[in-house]
Amino acid sequence: MDAFFAPASPLTGEARAPADKSISHRAALLGAMAADPVRVENYLDAADTASTLAAVEALGTLVERDGSDLVLRGTGIRDAREPAGTVDVGNAGTLLRLLPGWLAAQSGRSFTLDGDESIRRRPVGRIMAPLTAMGAELRARGDGYTPLTVRGAQLRAIDWQIEVASAQVKSCVLFAGLAADGTTSVTEPTVSRDHTERMLRAAGVAVSRAATTVTVVSADDVALGDVRVPGDVSSAAFLVAAGVLVPRSRLLIRDVGVNWTRTGFLRIVRRMRGIVFGELEEPREEIAAHEPVSDLDVAHGALEGTTVRADEVPAAIDELPLVALLGCFAEGETVVEGAQELRIKETDRISAVVDGLRGLGGDIEATADGFVVRGSGGLRGGTLDSRGDHRLAMLGAVAGLASREGVRVIGMESAAVSYPTFARDLAALC
Ligand code: S3P
Repeated sequence: MDAFFAPASPLTGEARAPADKSISHRAALLGAMAADPVRVENYLDAADTASTLAAVEALGTLVERDGSDLVLRGTGIRDAREPAGTVDVGNAGTLLRLLPGWLAAQSGRSFTLDGDESIRRRPVGRIMAPLTAMGAELRARGDGYTPLTVRGAQLRAIDWQIEVASAQVKSCVLFAGLAADGTTSVTEPTVSRDHTERMLRAAGVAVSRAATTVTVVSADDVALGDVRVPGDVSSAAFLVAAGVLVPRSRLLIRDVGVNWTRTGFLRIVRRMRGIVFGELEEPREEIAAHEPVSDLDVAHGALEGTTVRADEVPAAIDELPLVALLGCFAEGETVVEGAQELRIKETDRISAVVDGLRGLGGDIEATADGFVVRGSGGLRGGTLDSRGDHRLAMLGAVAGLASREGVRVIGMESAAVSYPTFARDLAALC
């Protein structure tokens, strides 16, 4: 589906970001591991998180849907059911990397995971290595792509070191560690999003952190109780970018999760002199999800270029394409370094962003691990191909509002992976 986004008048009013995708995935998976029913309020209603619910159902969890709330009646940590066929993860990279951590602990049972065309290009070697070291048997296509088969075992605890910060790999090892014999630790070079650690702690599991090492002690049960999922800062980021880019805008985005490990983009926007107010330092706490929440007050600002360095990348990873977009409107140069992980997201997001923004009149170049943008006073507009990537489709839409001639986005329907009501929410603010 193509959609056209015309240059916008100022954006004003209020919006509520959709529920957090990362936290929704984790709530469904931990709900499946819990012995007692778990109530999840404000579960994300989108394609990726629907894949997670279908997966846990196939593994024996009962899911009762009550509007945007769910009740999950799980099987317990060690008793996932072996499904008749393949577990379909759809387009969800997070599900593909997290679920095997739990499945590896299902002693003597076998599970095969596969997904769409994009999932088939996303590497799984990074989770196969630790799970194999823990004693599970894993097989994948070629040098580490789906279909991925996991044969569960009685797992051994390990101390695992990951080369590139990844919350998905960390969470996978922590889930496996829950059922291993002893204490498992994961060390990453920089802290990545810590939703899994927070939720495990809320579920009564002994999890601790020292510097960049997270340690989990194995457990017999997870007692998650109720979870309320906050708004997704990665989805809100598109509204933030629109508000910052379109002159005279002023908007309020309510109930956004502002966990420090996710708010790198907001810090970068502030540094570029975009205006974002919010209680980032002392936010209100959503007790049930153990995640801080704030409203964000956003206004247009005259932007300046900036350099995003490698240690800032994990907290802004999914928003770096938007940093490139802001860079087109900023004075001077905007550089992103140390973000080679972008090449293995839903698409190669370095090449997709560079090609996409160039096609709209941007002055941007790819580097091995990021990009360099020279501010050119804005964008002309034109056509942007989302390549089936939800975040690129939404970037194209925001670019259209801020451009001189508007942007036609090819494949706008992919926004439904994380933010099905995006176009409607944006239209309501315009
Ligand atoms: C996610 C972690 C990140 C992120 C992805 C969601 C998560 O991936 O890009 O969209 O929920 O754990 P990596 O762990 O590969 O960095």
